[in-house]
Amino acid sequence: MALDLKIFHLNQLGIPQERIAKRLDIPQKTLSNHSAKMPELAFWLNSDLTKGFSVPLVAEKHGWPEPLVWSQALQGIDDLSRFNSLYWDLQPWDVWDFKADNRFGDGNPEQISAQVIAHILYFFSLQNDLIFDPMAGSGVCADTCLAMNRRCWSFDMVDRPDIRPEIEPYYWDMEGNWEDMPILSAREKPDLIIWEPSWFEKNARGGPEKNISRLSKKDYLQFLETSFLFLKKHFKNKTRLAFINRDYRDYYDCPAYKEDPKKAILFVDYCKILKKTGWDVKYVVLVPLSSELFEGEHGKYMQEKGILATTGRHVIMSV
Ligand SMILES: C[S@@+](CC[C@H](N)C(=O)[O-])C[C@H]1O[C@@H](n2cnc3c(N)ncnc32)[C@H](O)[C@@H]1O
Repeated sequence: MALDLKIFHLNQLGIPQERIAKRLDIPQKTLSNHSAKMPELAFWLNSDLTKGFSVPLVAEKHGWPEPLVWSQALQGIDDLSRFNSLYWDLQPWDVWDFKADNRFGDGNPEQISAQVIAHILYFFSLQNDLIFDPMAGSGVCADTCLAMNRRCWSFDMVDRPDIRPEIEPYYWDMEGNWEDMPILSAREKPDLIIWEPSWFEKNARGGPEKNISRLSKKDYLQFLETSFLFLKKHFKNKTRLAFINRDYRDYYDCPAYKEDPKKAILFVDYCKILKKTGWDVKYVVLVPLSSELFEGEHGKYMQEKGILATTGRHVIMSV
C-alpha cells in the first residue's frame, strides 16, 4: 500500500496523528504534508463513484482496499441505509447467523462475519464512536468500522505493516504488564470494545508460541480475569465490552457422555469472570459458526460415536 493511501486509511479510522506517524515511521511534519493531499486523493475516486461505477470496480481501478472505498461511497448516510447499500439483512433478534463476507477482513473462513460486527455496531454504538479491537486477527472489525463510519483502533501480536497498517503490533504478555499500551495515553478512551480472543485449545501446539490459545486452562482463565480487570480500570464507566467467545469442550474423539467437564471452559465460566471483574452482563447473542465442518464422513463418525461438537459462539455484551 502506498504511503499516501496508508495515511488516508489510518486517518479515516480516526487513529491519533502521533500514532500514525509512529506506525508509519515518518516524522509528524511529513505526515502533515501528506495529510494536506488527502482531499485530492479522494477526489478522483469520488468522481468515479458519482459516475455510478460500482465499489469493487472503483477499488480495483484505484488500487484501494474495498472497505476504504465503502467508507467514501457511504458518506453522510445513516446506519440502516448502510446496511441496505451493503446488501446486509438487519436481524433484530438475538441469534445472528451469517457466513463470512469476503469483502471485509482477510476473507478467511474462520474470521468473524462482518455482518456480526455490523450488528454489534448498529445496536451498541453510534456513528463516529471509538471502537477498540484488542486482538484484531483478520482486521474484519476495522474494515466494518470503515463501512459503518466508526473510528477503530486495533492491536494484534502479528504485525503485517503493508497489508494491515491499521493493526498496531501489540503483545499482551501473560504477566499483565500492559501499562505501555498506546491507547491508555490517548486523549480519548473507547466507547466500545469488540474482543474475540484466540480460543483456548488445551495447550495447542501449532501457531505462534505467545498466542494465548497455547496457555493451560488455568492460565487462560487467569489471563482473561487480569485483562477484564485492566479494561474496567482504565476505560470509561460507560465503555461497553462485546466479548465474543466459544465454549471449549474436549469432544474431539470423545462421546458426549464420557467427556470430562473439568476440562471444559463454558459460557458460564466467561460470565462468572466478567461479573467478578466488575462487568455487568446485559445481553447475550448467539452467533453460530458454520456446521459445514461436521458434515460428510466426519459428521457420520460423530453421529455413530455420540460426539457432540460445538458450533455455538456468543457475543456477551457487558458494561
Ligand atoms: C480469534 S483471533 C481474532 C479474530 C478476529 N476477530 C477476526 O475475525 O479475524 C485472535 C487473535 O488474537 C491474537 N493473539 C493471541 N494471543 C495474543 C497476545 N498474547 N497478544 C496479542 N495478540 C494475541 C492472534 O494473533 C489472533 O489474531
